[in-house]
Amino acid sequence: MASANQKMWAGRFAKETDSRVNDFNSSIRFDSRMFRQDIAGSCAHAQMLGDCGIIEKSESAAIIAGLKGILADMESGKLVLNPEAEDIHMFVEAELTSRIGDAGKRLHTARSRNDQVALDLRLYLKDETKEILFLVRELITTIADLAEQHTRTVMPGYTHLQRAQPITFAHHLMAYANMLLRDLQRLEDANKRMDFMPLGSGALAATTYPINRKQVCDLLGFADITQNSLDGVSDRDFAIELTSAISILMMHLSRFSEEIILWCSWEFKFVELDDAYATGSSIMPQKKNPDVTELIRGKAGRVYGDLQTLLVMMKGLPLAYNKDMQEDKEAVFDAVDTVKLCLSTFIPMLATMRVLPENMRAAAARGFINATDCADYLVKKGLPFRDAYKITGQLVALCIEKNCTLETLPLAEYQALSAEFAEDVYKAISLEECVLQRKAEGGPAPESVEKQIAYIRTAIA
Ligand code: ARG
Repeated sequence: MASANQKMWAGRFAKETDSRVNDFNSSIRFDSRMFRQDIAGSCAHAQMLGDCGIIEKSESAAIIAGLKGILADMESGKLVLNPEAEDIHMFVEAELTSRIGDAGKRLHTARSRNDQVALDLRLYLKDETKEILFLVRELITTIADLAEQHTRTVMPGYTHLQRAQPITFAHHLMAYANMLLRDLQRLEDANKRMDFMPLGSGALAATTYPINRKQVCDLLGFADITQNSLDGVSDRDFAIELTSAISILMMHLSRFSEEIILWCSWEFKFVELDDAYATGSSIMPQKKNPDVTELIRGKAGRVYGDLQTLLVMMKGLPLAYNKDMQEDKEAVFDAVDTVKLCLSTFIPMLATMRVLPENMRAAAARGFINATDCADYLVKKGLPFRDAYKITGQLVALCIEKNCTLETLPLAEYQALSAEFAEDVYKAISLEECVLQRKAEGGPAPESVEKQIAYIRTAIA
């Protein structure tokens, strides 16, 4: 293969590249992960060049056979990367030529690395998006399965992290399922705009050869071809959109993680992580720490950094390709790797997490979370809501003073504030009843949450 000092573009130059510039310029360290996509793109391109009569059919066949050999040898580890190569595109082409001779030198006809890298990145990210979609579906299913077991597990719902109104654990879980469903839709939507084939854009101004872009598009399984050669090589929206969708997904995972961190604390003790998904302390023998969730919360910030990198990298670039764009890969790859790592750890952690319904129920019993229901009781007896609200506030103050709950406050105390109160108030404010009555669509009543679960299961099918 060509040595690092004999550049493919050496003709124009009188001097060799400074070794520091070589290192600085090289992207093979991080773009080699696209070798499968690079080879697939080159095979389709060679096929098309042969079919269009731009190169000989025999040359096209030799190129494809050579590329397949390179692919097999890279998969098996027989062919190792040359770290001196400028990038994966140069490496594969040089290796091909060293294997098959002159025909290899014809592969780059009607092509530039600018449209080649745009193609590789789209192909690579399409594959990654598929994997992320798979994991998000799996997480939604895990949540729905868990929710199914807890449609009657009463827990306090919070606002301002203060106990607010009674809900069930299933209802709380299904909130996350809905966030993740939107993530799924955003990823699918990003995928639609990624699904355009840029090859044929050339360096920037397409090509004078009679190429068949549609054929390459079909061979590689894209929905359509890009419509403008300048845009074809300089668009990175697809990477930004994907990283943006991943950022929102990470924000959801981070919020869920934050809640699990709280729930694991002795202050809540709503759940306990399986030993396989928790960690200990080097000094405190009693500790069982939720490191996985803390790392996910931390890594969300890192992914937002990736998104920021991409946006800032692109904002000042004149058309068309600029080398700045080589910086896209480490950022988007990091976002993709990170979210996959987080999802694939979070899913089994959640599936094995022990739920402690008694502790949720005990927390629900304190904090007057049935106060709204008490006020609603009076409203149903004919009082205006504001009056009912005020009376209930006085009842809560009385309970705090007497250190009791609305459930244990004697009926006489109720009746002293409103004659409308009768024995049936205790049923109306029982937490189980409060949940059962919240059966409006989207509410926490078991029948409503069962519908939510069925809806989600169909939506992701
Ligand atoms: N390694 C380059 C990148 O990742 C490939 C494109 C190089 N194009 C060029 N004109 N130098 O962007």
